[in-house]
Amino acid sequence: MNHVRIIGTGSKAPDKVLSNHDLEKMVETSDEWITARTGIKERRIAEDGIASSDMGYDASLKALEASGTDPSELDVIIVGTVTPDYMMPSTGCLIQSKLKAKNAYGFDLAAGCSGFLYALHVGYGLIKAGTAKKILVVGTETLSRIMDYEDRSTCILFGDGAGAVVLSESEEPGIMSSCLNADGDDWELLYIPGGGSKIPASKESIENKDHYMKMNGRDVFRIAVKSMEAATMQAVEEAGIKPEDIDLLIPHQANFRILEAVRKRLNLPEDRLFSNLDKYGNTSAASVPLALDEAVRSGRAKKGDILLFTVFGGGFTWGATVVRL
Ligand code: COA
Repeated sequence: MNHVRIIGTGSKAPDKVLSNHDLEKMVETSDEWITARTGIKERRIAEDGIASSDMGYDASLKALEASGTDPSELDVIIVGTVTPDYMMPSTGCLIQSKLKAKNAYGFDLAAGCSGFLYALHVGYGLIKAGTAKKILVVGTETLSRIMDYEDRSTCILFGDGAGAVVLSESEEPGIMSSCLNADGDDWELLYIPGGGSKIPASKESIENKDHYMKMNGRDVFRIAVKSMEAATMQAVEEAGIKPEDIDLLIPHQANFRILEAVRKRLNLPEDRLFSNLDKYGNTSAASVPLALDEAVRSGRAKKGDILLFTVFGGGFTWGATVVRL
């Protein structure tokens, strides 16, 4: 058994919808502008009291059920998130407790919007090394809690949600390549200043809105396109396939223009790109597993298909993974 496969997927999106028209009443923007510049029509917002572990738990239950896995079989739970419930304990421990996954250890992994693919890569490595057989990999975000709904350059883009997969050792091929990258030089283009050890929570930091996400969208856009294109080509090469072998491209759902640039770089037809960006916006680490679960449950992604995931996020971090489903 020297392969690692995704054997089940699950997702959770909150019911509450925040549409472009709703945002028109909150900031100076328009449905036309948001649709044309991003492809987003609406996003989901978690109800008060619901946090990342709650949505992550719901998504995990579905992934466990889909894969026929009992929580007691899990060896590890890895949660990609930039919006953990708490700084301590980890969301991984909270999900472990809710699932009663008594044989698993759990932890969070912070890699911005690339969190899920980073977590998948770590899970892959742990199974390959023989230290685990079954791993739950979760991406879950409550980004509405770190949005400044007076800042039109960020609040139109992001939403809440969760996705999860069960990774297992397998005799059949699964993950074919996994490439991660990081470059911390430009970290200030996309970051959350407050709430950490540099600018701890204080009356002043709250007045300064330091706990909200800050972004230079134009620069991020440029670097995201270049990075995702490069990672995608690297992952295709390392998997030993050709771009045309990809049945479905599932990129981080950031901006439809970014998704289209990656699709065109791979020279894939429009129907090989999966996007649910119009419904959810950018859900950071939840974006790829949420899209993957929708692709699987709608029949767009079938067993045996070759999928390509590619991500980009704060840090900067980016990467791509080729998977046979
Ligand atoms: N509604 C209306 N107008 C807006 C607006 C909004 N929500 N946000 C910005 N504008 C205005 C700007 O002020 C600017 O006006 P000006 O020309 O008078 O100065 C104009 O629209 C163009 O702004 P610009 O920032 O150049 O637009 P853009 O085409 O780059 O689109 C983003 C902005 C944020 C949608 C785009 O840059 C983007 O998606 N970046 C990547 C963000 C991302 O994916 N981040 C997460 C990575 S994981």
